[in-house]
Amino acid sequence: MEQKKRIFSGIQPSGDLTLGSYMGAIKNWVALQDEYDCLYCIVDMHAITVRQVPADLRRRSLEQLAQYVACGLDPQKNIMFIQSHVPAHAELSWVLGCYTQFGELSRMTQFKMKSQQHADNITAGLFTYPVLMAADILVYQADLVPVGEDQKQHVELCRDIASRFNNSFPDTFTLPEPFIPKMGARIMSLGAPENKMSKSDPDGCVYIMDKPEDIMRKFKRAVTDCETAVRYDRENKPGVSNLLTIYCAATGKTMQQAEQEFAGQGYGVFKPAVGEAVVELMRPIREETTKLLSDRAYLESIYKEGAEKASYLANKTLRKVYKKVGFVPR
Ligand code: TYM
Repeated sequence: MEQKKRIFSGIQPSGDLTLGSYMGAIKNWVALQDEYDCLYCIVDMHAITVRQVPADLRRRSLEQLAQYVACGLDPQKNIMFIQSHVPAHAELSWVLGCYTQFGELSRMTQFKMKSQQHADNITAGLFTYPVLMAADILVYQADLVPVGEDQKQHVELCRDIASRFNNSFPDTFTLPEPFIPKMGARIMSLGAPENKMSKSDPDGCVYIMDKPEDIMRKFKRAVTDCETAVRYDRENKPGVSNLLTIYCAATGKTMQQAEQEFAGQGYGVFKPAVGEAVVELMRPIREETTKLLSDRAYLESIYKEGAEKASYLANKTLRKVYKKVGFVPR
């Protein structure tokens, strides 16, 4: 039988899971789980590149695992685990850091943005974050990395690091490709549609665990423009275009269908309709997450088994890399 291609992706438990992460990443993970061998990670080591409250980080890591399952990821089909449980990520990261240029890391958009947001605490970890991300991907020889648009630059850097390493030591790493959805790759803030929807902006952000009334309130208040036409025009109508994108990603309709549906109707009809579509999309996920969180033993069995399987795969790559760079075998 032909070997299935492999997928790796992850989300930081640095805040509650958002509609942006769902539409940009998890929705695709669910769609790809039958066709590929998939590893989905809770990247807690990435989360500590900015300050976290330890108890919150622990709680959110478990919650995120429950949400992965509630979103439709089958623990029988996918390897789901917590990054800090598989030391090979950090070990490979060190080696890859020695094959990454200071200049390359300085050019990363996320680093530039986060170092502005956390100007009083720009750590070495924040700077070398993309190296750890490259290790996450390369340690599993992943072919495909399903992410939102904002992570494309990091996946491209990962490819550059892998190519450079392969130039010195042929046939070490598979070169991964980013896999970015056509609809929902970049969900914008509801309050400031020129910015990406992010965990740290509670007003502009819809969380998977938000109650229906909170979701409706956020959509009714969403920033639009002073026209009345429901029409996609990202440049001139960023708010309406974002709502249309969310509507299409939530319902599976095309942009043309959505525009037709709301033709001649004002924002007073359009905004609550988008809210309702999201409420219906999130309702089963929220209910299932709550159910799963009451069964700690089940969640524990998923992440323990996940870490065991992931470690087995990761250690194979790590052994190969350590040998190639000239370390004495243990
Ligand atoms: P993170 O935790 O910021 O986001 C998780 C995933 O959600 C996507 N995403 C969005 N997509 C569309 N619209 C948005 N507003 C939006 N916000 C977030 C992100 O693109 C991402 O796919 N560095 C990564 C985590 C990571 C990783 C990895 C990903 C660590 N190692 C290896 C893939 C492979 C991050 O910060 O994602």
